[in-house]
Amino acid sequence: MKHLEQDVERILLTKEEIAAKVSEMAQEMGEFYQDKEVVMVCILKGSITFFADLVRGLSFPAIFDFMCVSSYGCGSVSGGSVRILKDLTVDITDKHVLIVEDILDTGNTLSALLEQLKARRPASLKLCCLLDKPDRRTKPIKADFVGFSIPDEFVVGYGLDYDEKYRQLPYVGVLKRSVYEH
Ligand code: XMP
Ligand code: MG
Repeated sequence: MKHLEQDVERILLTKEEIAAKVSEMAQEMGEFYQDKEVVMVCILKGSITFFADLVRGLSFPAIFDFMCVSSYGCGSVSGGSVRILKDLTVDITDKHVLIVEDILDTGNTLSALLEQLKARRPASLKLCCLLDKPDRRTKPIKADFVGFSIPDEFVVGYGLDYDEKYRQLPYVGVLKRSVYEH
C-alpha cells in the first residue's frame, strides 16, 4: 500500500483510536436502544468499514440494510431532495432506524435523506456518524451519535475515498493537497 500511503499528509486517527471509539459508540447505542430491534442503515460506499466494525459491538437485535445516495460529484442535491441510487429493501414503517454514515460535512445529503425517510413513518429515526466536520455545516443537522469531530481537511481511509481510492487504508488520514489540486 506504499503508493497509497505516500499520498497521505498525516494520520489523523489511528486504527487503534478508531477501534476504541467504535466500540464506545456501540455501547452508547446499546444503552439508548436497550433491547429494541433496530434497522441499521449503512450508507454506501464510505460507511461500510465503520458499519462492519460497529455492528459487531451491538447488544440489541439489528437488521442490516444498505442505501446509496448521490452526494459530491453527482450534483443533484437541491430543494431538499437527494437522488437515491439504491434504496432500502426493508420496509421501515414503525421500525427503529439508525442511519450509519462515515462523515457529516455540509449536511446537505443527510438532511435531504432524513426528510425522505421520515416520510416513511419509522418509529424513530436517528443518525450516527463516525466523523463530523462542524465547520462546513450549512444545514441545521446534528448526529445523535458522533465518533470524532475533525477539522475541515479532506480525509481518506477507513472507507473514505478520493476518486474511489484509499478506502482500504486502516486509518483516517489527511490527503495531500497535491493529489487533488493540479
Ligand atoms: P454533505 O456535505 O452532504 O456530504 O454532508 C457528506 C458526504 O461528502 C463526502 N465527504 C468526504 N469524503 N473525505 C471523503 O472521503 C472527506 O473529507 C469528505 N468530506 C465530505 C462523503 O461522501 C460524505 O458522505
Ligand atoms: Mg466519497
